[in-house]
Amino acid sequence: MKQDLIVILDLGSTENTVLAREIRALGVYSEIHPHDITASELQALGNVKGIILNGGENRVVDGQAVEVREEIYGAGYPIVSVDYPASKCEKKYTELLGREELSSFVFDVCKAEANWNMKNFIEDQIELIRRQVGDRKVLLALSGGVDSSVVAAMLIKAIGQQLVCVHVNHGLMRKNESESVIKVFRDELHANLVYVDASERFLGKLEGVADPEEKRKIIGGEFIRVFEEEARKLEGIDFLGQGTIYPDIIESGTKTAKTVKSHHNVGGLPEDLQFELVEPLKQLFKDEVRDCGVELGLPHDMVYRQPFPGPGLGVRCLGAITRDRLEAVREADAILREEFAKAGLDKKVWQYFTVVPDFKSVGMKNNARVLEYMVIIRAINTIDAMTASVEKVDWDVLETVTKRILEEVGNVNRVCYDMSPKPPATIEFE
Ligand code: XMP
Repeated sequence: MKQDLIVILDLGSTENTVLAREIRALGVYSEIHPHDITASELQALGNVKGIILNGGENRVVDGQAVEVREEIYGAGYPIVSVDYPASKCEKKYTELLGREELSSFVFDVCKAEANWNMKNFIEDQIELIRRQVGDRKVLLALSGGVDSSVVAAMLIKAIGQQLVCVHVNHGLMRKNESESVIKVFRDELHANLVYVDASERFLGKLEGVADPEEKRKIIGGEFIRVFEEEARKLEGIDFLGQGTIYPDIIESGTKTAKTVKSHHNVGGLPEDLQFELVEPLKQLFKDEVRDCGVELGLPHDMVYRQPFPGPGLGVRCLGAITRDRLEAVREADAILREEFAKAGLDKKVWQYFTVVPDFKSVGMKNNARVLEYMVIIRAINTIDAMTASVEKVDWDVLETVTKRILEEVGNVNRVCYDMSPKPPATIEFE
């Protein structure tokens, strides 16, 4: 293994992430693991140089007082415990164990080397993946989003044709999105890629469905069914690759590293389709996932793309989805992205997209009164998507986008700019 590792055991602290990032800032790789890890699991992690027991206020996980296994103390690793003495419960972690103490533990006590970098991380993960998978096969749902793309690139490097990627086009993708997945993964990285165009099937199921949550449920459920059907056609698959990243894992108070948000997980697969998981990014933060993607040679656009919701354009074609409005939202989105890129706004604005509501307004075309749709542009900045402010887009850019949408997108006679921050508005419209 290339990198030294300091393991943080989560005994209920809410600051595991802060601590892991502090250690990584010292140039040493650090991972967070549940308090009940066994000595042999620890050993399998690679070059473990030391352990930090991170207890937070009272060493409670899921409402239960917790301790590490007795065998951990006898496993031969240097161990330091970080707990909050009762009198210091308002205190922050960094006040309790400052950078100097942390650095002294990491370098002087554990004798760790500052050898954490993406190149070494990738080499280590490749070794771990090969060890886990052997000569068996891994299945991966490749959406084309940052996380699944980076996992795919990593797995291709580690096990090549033993990885089977399934890309399901649910018909709610942005313009040229599936084409770009095929180009990068099949043509350039030579992935074993199964492309499933399920557009008609999804649009059929969604016909006449106006309720946003119902739409999400149908899209999510149908995705699992299509993926399951493809999985059943393939022979001898033992593993499921997943683009789980650290923020998907709930921080403390629960068993760290074991609880994953359902929308990221291809959860819901039937019981008889049992797979072991391969999750090589689960200890990375989003910025590190992007660095990893760049190091693996993925195109910049793919690694730095803005967030795109799982249900895709389905929640931006408001109300019951119709083909003409879906086409309008897709074309308008492509124009917006093109013009934002030309103006350099793609690197500045956190999320930007178009929405088409399910009503028409009056306009004039060729001297006649016409009832047509409107396109709403939304461009926001945020740190964590919990609150958001509106980007003050340059007027000339808005004019260019408006002109192009009105000229190039069918059935549209009006363009609006959404000025609402979150809260009270949400980022998406439904
Ligand atoms: P809201 O609309 O809640 O959005 O302010 C916050 C962030 O979450 C994204 N979003 C979703 N992502 N599935 C996803 O994977 C969804 O159903 C979904 N709904 C919203 C949204 O794009 C924004 O970045």
